[in-house]
Amino acid sequence: MLILALESSCDETSAAVVEMEGDSKKILSNIVASQIEIHRRYGGVVPEIAGRAHIEAVSGITHEALDTAGASLSDIGAVAVTNAPGLIGALLVGMNFAKSLAYSHNIPLVPVNHIKAHGAAAYLEYPDLKPPFLALIVSGGHTCFYEVKDYTDWRYLAGTRDDAAGEAFDKVGRVIGCPYPAGAEMDKLAAAGDPSSIPLPSPALHGTLDLSFSGLKTACLNYIHNLDQKGMPVNRENMAASLTAAICGGIYAKASDALDLTDAETLVLAGGVAANSHLRRALADLCEKKKVRFCVPPLSLCGDNGAMIAAQGYYEFLSGVRAGTDLNASAN
Ligand code: KG4
Ligand code: ZN
Repeated sequence: MLILALESSCDETSAAVVEMEGDSKKILSNIVASQIEIHRRYGGVVPEIAGRAHIEAVSGITHEALDTAGASLSDIGAVAVTNAPGLIGALLVGMNFAKSLAYSHNIPLVPVNHIKAHGAAAYLEYPDLKPPFLALIVSGGHTCFYEVKDYTDWRYLAGTRDDAAGEAFDKVGRVIGCPYPAGAEMDKLAAAGDPSSIPLPSPALHGTLDLSFSGLKTACLNYIHNLDQKGMPVNRENMAASLTAAICGGIYAKASDALDLTDAETLVLAGGVAANSHLRRALADLCEKKKVRFCVPPLSLCGDNGAMIAAQGYYEFLSGVRAGTDLNASAN
């Protein structure tokens, strides 16, 4: 069946048409309109501006997704849409557009959780991948482990108690002059730096599977400000490499514990920060050591996109999830 999916939870408006049938998964279109250039001058996402930009983009993007896929609305078996979590004003735009499309064309409407959808991106890359598995979702807003018992049955295991890993990359990156969002540039800078040059606290908390990135972020900012007060420049490569080592080290340790605890045979890494080359390598090494299958979506499916919403939407549809025009969005 063909799924038309819409995503507007943060700063990308995306629409996709994906053909899903058993183990066969085919992305026919996956159009992403990024607002990054708009938000860059403010150093982060401005929710009000994001909502307005989604309104401008959503209709054109949806038509482009249908045209690229060579499909019309009469071919669509379900409209999937992100309804949580995210910026509330941003979510409402995609959700209300999806509602009106579904209602006016009498197509089933399926609400999708954005975090589960990040994990579902892996089904598109590994058509044979099936639950159960351990999912690690690392993005700008989340860093969490889930036991994925079934396609729609996710149990929260552990995660960050404060900031997400992506937030730490973005905030430290901003102070050393990387444009928003800093993750991709920090990735490149880190490759040229010495990861042991700046002593930083580990984000791995003791006696729990949880993580905490706010102390690490503050330690980086204090280090940079101290140098600044002495009139000394920070070595950007070393800062990026040290922060990356701390983040990857903490996540590696907790992923190792989570695999032991759950006896999982597969680890799925997903979310925007799953694009990080150092994190991908670290977790691939961990899985090789533990003889666990490692699945991570290609870079094009790590950031927010409609195809991942379609993938999760398909399984929600199969499990009978439907929404009416009273569907609401939720920021959490
Ligand atoms: O999943 P996503 O697109 O949006 C949220 O749901 O939050 O994740 C965005 C985050 C940003 O913090 C961005 O800096 C980060 O993913 N990111 C990266 C890389 N590419 C994107 N972080 C580290 N290394 C990267 N290569
Ligand atoms: Zn996301």
